[in-house]
Amino acid sequence: MRLNTVLGLMPALLGAQSLAYEVQTPPLDTDWTYKVGTNPWPEYPRPLLQRPTWQNLNGVWKWRAAGAGEGAMPPLNETLTQDVLVPSCLESGLSGVQLLNQTYSWFARDFTVPPDWSKQDGRIILNFEAVDYEATIFINGRQAGFNRGGYWHFSVDATDYLSVNGTNKLHVFVYDPTDTPGVNIPIGKQTRTPSHIFYRSCTGLWQTVWMEWVPSTYISGVEIAAGMDGQVNMTVSVNSSAGYPESVSVSVISADGDVVASHDAPPNAPFDFVVDSPELWSPEKPTLYNITIKTGSDEVTSYTGFRTVSRGKVNGIERPLINGEFSFHFGTLDQGFWPDGLYTPPSVEAMVYDLKVLKGLGMNMLRKHIKVEPALFYRACDELGLLLIQDMPSLQASGNVKPNAAQQAEFERQFDILINQHKSYPSIYTWVVYNEGWGQLLNNGTYPEEGLTARARELDPTRLVDATSGWFDHGYGDYSDNHHYANPQCGSPFYSIQSSPWDPSRIAIQGEFGGIGHNVSIEHLWKVEQAILELNQTYELDADLDAYNYRAHRLLDELREQVEFYACSGAIWTQTTDVEGEVNGLLTYDRRILRPNEDQWKADIQALYDTAQSRNEGNMVVQKMLR
Ligand SMILES: *[C@@H]1O[C@H](CO)[C@@H](O)[C@H](O)[C@H]1NC(C)=O
Ligand SMILES: *[C@@H]1O[C@H](CO)[C@@H](O)[C@H](O)[C@H]1NC(C)=O
Ligand SMILES: *[C@@H]1O[C@H](CO)[C@@H](O)[C@H](O)[C@H]1NC(C)=O
Ligand SMILES: *[C@@H]1O[C@H](CO)[C@@H](O)[C@H](O)[C@H]1NC(C)=O
Ligand SMILES: *[C@@H]1O[C@H](CO)[C@@H](O)[C@H](O)[C@H]1NC(C)=O
Ligand SMILES: *[C@@H]1O[C@H](CO)[C@@H](O)[C@H](O)[C@H]1NC(C)=O
Ligand SMILES: *[C@@H]1O[C@H](CO)[C@@H](O)[C@H](O)[C@H]1NC(C)=O
Ligand SMILES: *[C@@H]1O[C@H](CO)[C@@H](O)[C@H](O)[C@H]1NC(C)=O
Ligand SMILES: *[C@@H]1O[C@H](CO)[C@@H](O)[C@H](O)[C@H]1NC(C)=O
Repeated sequence: MRLNTVLGLMPALLGAQSLAYEVQTPPLDTDWTYKVGTNPWPEYPRPLLQRPTWQNLNGVWKWRAAGAGEGAMPPLNETLTQDVLVPSCLESGLSGVQLLNQTYSWFARDFTVPPDWSKQDGRIILNFEAVDYEATIFINGRQAGFNRGGYWHFSVDATDYLSVNGTNKLHVFVYDPTDTPGVNIPIGKQTRTPSHIFYRSCTGLWQTVWMEWVPSTYISGVEIAAGMDGQVNMTVSVNSSAGYPESVSVSVISADGDVVASHDAPPNAPFDFVVDSPELWSPEKPTLYNITIKTGSDEVTSYTGFRTVSRGKVNGIERPLINGEFSFHFGTLDQGFWPDGLYTPPSVEAMVYDLKVLKGLGMNMLRKHIKVEPALFYRACDELGLLLIQDMPSLQASGNVKPNAAQQAEFERQFDILINQHKSYPSIYTWVVYNEGWGQLLNNGTYPEEGLTARARELDPTRLVDATSGWFDHGYGDYSDNHHYANPQCGSPFYSIQSSPWDPSRIAIQGEFGGIGHNVSIEHLWKVEQAILELNQTYELDADLDAYNYRAHRLLDELREQVEFYACSGAIWTQTTDVEGEVNGLLTYDRRILRPNEDQWKADIQALYDTAQSRNEGNMVVQKMLR
């Protein structure tokens, strides 16, 4: 119950008094909206580095708007005026604020340190899974940290700022300059002026905030890559205020609990060892192994999957290979937007629901489109067996706006972070640098995707790079990636304006196609006037679900023919769900209607895999059609 109801007061009479949290009515809700409550995202948020001593700091925080110059001094003696739910986007109904265009904000909460954490010598680390766009962290009025970039995990060693036996004040100053003239930052599809394929933006603490106790010598990071040959390449980062240990001890544990390998190595440097005949990870059988890592009194749990990503010719065609084999890769363009939470899925259950729908239709891959998700999303893909093509969130999409040198350098810095923070998830097999020319410098002597492709390979030699998904391909990266609506043009001897011809020396994929739409009744639409007026910009509108499924069948069969006749190795259907003014999802934006005829789609998708398998086996006469 909200405070004004308890007090019997009208909200207006409360004036600047704090309002108790209440979910606001978003332009469209989901079945999860009103189940979120005030204890959102309670799950342990960091599956690759798990520790038992932690405390979630999600829940109801205080918030108020701020001005540009306020970030130097937190409003310590002030109770901020409004409740806000963390994690959430300020613009979302779930935030309880649902306010647009807020460039500067204060977020605050009090917290106490669990009593047993202060009994042993150690450190207390504050973790922010993602804050959009800049966050300055104050603990008890003193600045303890800063982060730039809306998609990344960051940590603050809070120990020296804390009172371990009293109340601590945590303030976060957020600066989110979305669409500010002259600003060009990694932003994906966020905008303050939504229209067609660009959507409502996200500001603030949109992923889990939490703290943990660690010993004075502690494991602060882990990188793992495990191949089909059983080789495990690892780096374990250790931070210490009490001298560095000589070694860390690693054990790999099978699903039935057996230790299948143990290894000791020095911290803060790469090492490797071999697990004999591991059961491999694949989309069909996504076997994972737990890993325990110990040093001194610290012990954490992680996991990996044994699989090798490579490319090579199979019967004369350049293919992406998982564990040395080619299977056709098929999935959706997955934007990760929610009508109630925008960038923040209402819950883990909701987030995983989308993935299970895709897997249930027979898909084995998805393209995470110019957004980065909470770590538990990647964990879910690892568990479910869904290969991931991970895009870098793009800079401004407008063709007239290109980054200056400083903006380009910041984009490149954040591209490194994308790879470093995500390169241990087995499901990710491809990094995308640019989408459809957005933010891609085209006439500065060199093409930046050349250097960025090399950089991706340097940071992560175990995956493929798609330098340009759609439009301006200059020959870099592992893919020749076409975008075309509604029909695919995948590894085919025909292409259209604004796409590049197929390059037989690289892997042919259809980075986007489909996009066929079907309007629905108003209760399933994003109830914003402009969005409804723009529904007619959907690439194609089919009058009813019969027409939609007829068209989908034609397009999937056309794609199958491109697998049979030409060099097509994978394709991405636009898209998982409707978003705002787009009605071309497999699911509506509220996830309440599934448009595909499931039996038909499963058969059409299976036919893609079967056709590719026949090509592998050289069973198809049509191969001679390839030059
Ligand atoms: C907050 O209040 C305390 C005690 O009243 C005072 O000493 C301090 O200067 C105030 N801080 C600010 C930032 O106003
Ligand atoms: C809290 O801890 C500090 C030292 O960290 C100590 O000086 C102070 O007396 C303690 N206060 C209480 C109420 O225990
Ligand atoms: C938000 O900002 C955009 C762009 O400046 C403007 O078009 C829009 O009307 C603003 N919306 C609100 C609610 O202030
Ligand atoms: C491990 O590192 C070696 C040497 O750099 C490399 O050849 C191998 O591909 C790597 N394996 C994995 C699974 O990353
Ligand atoms: C190690 O911890 C110290 C504070 O204890 C911090 O300043 C430093 O950034 C940390 N280093 C790493 C690599 O995390
Ligand atoms: C592996 O780790 C997960 C998550 O920490 C745990 O739930 C599971 O029981 C572990 N499995 C084995 C075999 O240890
Ligand atoms: C353009 O190229 C020049 C020299 O190659 C470089 O100094 C400059 O920073 C580049 N500009 C941008 C926006 O990247
Ligand atoms: C879609 O349906 C909504 C009502 O559900 C209607 O207002 C809108 O005009 C329709 N748009 C198109 C392009 O059919
Ligand atoms: C879409 O509908 C709007 C009015 O709702 C109209 O102004 C516009 O021309 C239509 N666009 C297309 C592509 O049909």
